[in-house]
Amino acid sequence: MRIDILTIFPEMFTGVFSESIIKRAMENKKVQINLINFRDYTNDPHNKVDDTPYGGGAGMVLMPQPIFDCVKSIRTAEAKVILLTPSGKVYNQRMAYDLSNEKHLIIICGHYEGFDERIKSICDLELSIGDYVLTGGEIPAMVLVDSITRLLDGVIRDESHINDSFNNNLLDYPTYTKPRVYEGMEVPEVLLSGDHKKIEEYRHNEQIRITKENRPDLLDK
Ligand SMILES: C[S@@+](CC[C@H](N)C(=O)[O-])C[C@H]1O[C@@H](n2cnc3c(N)ncnc32)[C@H](O)[C@@H]1O
Repeated sequence: MRIDILTIFPEMFTGVFSESIIKRAMENKKVQINLINFRDYTNDPHNKVDDTPYGGGAGMVLMPQPIFDCVKSIRTAEAKVILLTPSGKVYNQRMAYDLSNEKHLIIICGHYEGFDERIKSICDLELSIGDYVLTGGEIPAMVLVDSITRLLDGVIRDESHINDSFNNNLLDYPTYTKPRVYEGMEVPEVLLSGDHKKIEEYRHNEQIRITKENRPDLLDK
């Protein structure tokens, strides 16, 4: 998969993409991530990419020209263009699975007060990562790239993500490792029993209990 991230702060991504599973996925050519500074595409003599909002109001707004020209120059026939915005559809694991089947994603990071509304005309999808406002689209872009990359074939084992939270609208079951007793807290007996049927039953019941407690909305789906 190819992912192009349009940002005016490409350095923000360095740490996140140079460690652990994403780094390995890039090295193993499962994903190619390009950080593109759309300031390089501005026609403005002072390299400006933003301006004040028509009608007044606080903050600066990203201008359409640099982003339009940048997208035009990198777009492929199979590209899906995603605009990150708090007013987009709220991103979830189902969308991560769907997007992991795409060949080419172009992700646009807004900043400051946001972007000129006309930029939406070149986008296929508007996504929010949750009901709060961040200073820019860079962290949301990292969230998308991380959650999609781990679902690509050969990045992590299928069993690892098939049992993750949100599959079947349930949260994950509790997990334990050594030691058997830690500060007086014991690992549930059933996990030491070697009885796989009982373990499965216990885990499923725990998934239902935790989902009811923390995310009852998922059980209604
Ligand atoms: C300060 S925010 C702009 C907020 C905008 N005025 C609003 O109220 O919707 C600047 C940029 O950060 C990104 N951003 C902030 N919060 C986000 C979220 N929850 N999901 C996705 N992107 C977000 C978007 O790209 C946005 O254009």
